[in-house]
Formats: sequence, structure tokens, C-alpha cells
Amino acid sequence: MKHSVCMFAVAVAASTLFFGCSKSDDAVSAIKEKTDAAVAATKDAAEAVKDTAVAAAEKTAEVAEAAADKAVEVAGAAKDKAAEAVEAAKDAGAAAAEAVAGAVAGAAAAVAPKEGTIRMITEATFPPYEFRQGKEVVGIDVEICKAIAKALGKELKIEDVEFDSVLPSLIAGKAELAAAGITVTEDRKMQVDFSVPYVRTGIVFVYAKATPFEKGEQAKGKKVGVQNGTTSADYVRKDLGQEPEMFDSPASAFAALKAGKVDVVIADIDPAKAVIKGQDGYDISDLLTVEEYAVAIKKGQPELLATINKVIEGLKDSGELDKITDEMTAKANAMAAAEEAAKAE
Ligand code: ARG
Repeated sequence: MKHSVCMFAVAVAASTLFFGCSKSDDAVSAIKEKTDAAVAATKDAAEAVKDTAVAAAEKTAEVAEAAADKAVEVAGAAKDKAAEAVEAAKDAGAAAAEAVAGAVAGAAAAVAPKEGTIRMITEATFPPYEFRQGKEVVGIDVEICKAIAKALGKELKIEDVEFDSVLPSLIAGKAELAAAGITVTEDRKMQVDFSVPYVRTGIVFVYAKATPFEKGEQAKGKKVGVQNGTTSADYVRKDLGQEPEMFDSPASAFAALKAGKVDVVIADIDPAKAVIKGQDGYDISDLLTVEEYAVAIKKGQPELLATINKVIEGLKDSGELDKITDEMTAKANAMAAAEEAAKAE
């Protein structure tokens, strides 16, 4: 359209020049009129073209702008998504790294002991079975494990952990032997293998003489202190049907009794005797349960189990175990007496 309007304007202009020289003034003015009209039409047409073009351009700009906005929006969303993905990847990466670190640590811990050593895992706040004499862990269980190590031609290394970590650590491969006055129970038998038992014993109340506890029912509804993860804790839950107060050793449960924070303590009889040694106002009850201690090993090692059993039977039959028990009980008592004397000074 633009093109034909222009051609027309050029033709009119040309005829004006041509006729202007040879025709009359009337004709000239007629032509001029026509020319003016044509020029006006051309101008209008050009204007219309311009308007259309401008409108088109505006529309294009608008569309472009909208497209740009959309693009920015999409890019923004993409950026957010990307950031999210990066975060997720970081988390996943961290979790994976943690898992790997855990596995590596576990594997490192599970690595067999140094050539010629065997590791015993225990919790050394349990006299006379295991307790500390200075930095050294000593006790009946230590002597039994030393005899086992000797039979295997190995040197004994001792690991001391919280009581509720003893069996999990054994299962995780952090030691070959667990000996910590561990009572043989049906639950534990599903997790580990036990040797023949080396002592018959049980748990008792430890109480202030002013408020004696002899029967289990007496402790119902009372605050009962126990060591974490022990058969004493099981007794409070199952037989008394309540939650015990947890402590990390029989001695700290006893300290809470003395401080009036618990009403009574339940513990294995031998460590219970050890904690009340020289404490005038306190006593222990008769046995509440009958339990047996044994050495635990990771399941599925019949040869190792046979060797351990042979050693334990040998210690029992020869009277050696009784000797060890007397010696370690005397040692624990002497230490307790020394500690009391030190406190009294
Ligand atoms: N005989 C109890 C049990 O197996 C307590 C043993 C606690 N031993 C220790 N070393 N703290 O649960």
C-alpha cells in the first residue's frame, strides 16, 4: 500500500510540471487542486502507514517486554530451583560424607587388634569385678580375661566404656571379649554368645537404715536409682512397672541416695556391698533375683567359645577363681577404705 501511494504522488508531481508549461491557468489550478489532494492523500496514507508501523512496533515492543519479563521470571524460578537443588545436593553430599566417615570409623574400630593382642571391653565402676586402681583397670573379670588371653597366646588390652555400650561395641567389632559382670539374659543371648557362667549372684536394694527396703513392692512409686543398661533397670521396669532413675555407675546412684535425690538404689550385690563399705547408716537387702555372669563374644565363633569355656572351667575346678575373687574383693575394700580415710582428713 505504501508503495502504490508513493507512485501515485510521483505521477501527479510529474504531470504538474509537464502541464504547467502548456495549458491554461484553469487547467493549471485544476491540476494543482488535484495535486494538493493527492499530496494530502499521500500524507494521510503515509500517516496511516506510520501509525500502523508505530502500533506494530509498540505491539512488538510490548510482546518483547512481556517475553523478557517471562524470561526473567522463568530464569528466576530456574535460579531458585537451581539453588534448591544445590542445597539438596549439599545435604545429600554431607549425609553421604557422614555415612562414609561413620563406615570408615566403624571399619577402623572393627579392624582386628594388633597382632598378638586380644581386646576386652568392660565398664570399670563395678568392684570387685572391674574397677580402677589409679589408671589401671583391675578385678575378677580382668583376671579371667588375662587367663583367656594366655590360653590364646595373646596379650590382653582393656577398653573401658559406658555399661550400655559394652555389648553394642562388642557386636560392632571393637573388642573380642566382653566381661563386665554381664548377666546372662534371654534378650542378650539373641545378640551375643555367652560362655559358661563363672558366678551365681543377683541384685539387691541399697537403702538408708532409717527406711529399709526388703520386698520389691515397697519400692513401687518410689524413686529407684540404678546403673544405666543393667538388669536392675530391667527389674524396675518389668517388676515394679515404672521408670528408674538412671546413673552411670552404682557409686553415683548411691551418692544420689545419700543426697536424698532417690529413695532407694538397686544394684548387683557385690558392688552394692562395696559402695556401703564403711557407710554406717546404709544396708542392703536379700537378693531380689538370681543371676549369672558370663563372658560374651560376637556370635558364631565356636572355637573361641570352646577355649573360653575351657579356661573358665579350669579356673573354677582348680580353686583359682575363688582365690582371685577373695584377692580382688580385698583389694576393692582396701581401696574403698583408703578413699574414705582420704575424705575424712
Ligand atoms: N549384672 C548387671 C547386668 O548385667 C549389671 C552389670 C554392670 N556391670 C558393670 N561393669 N557396670 O546388667
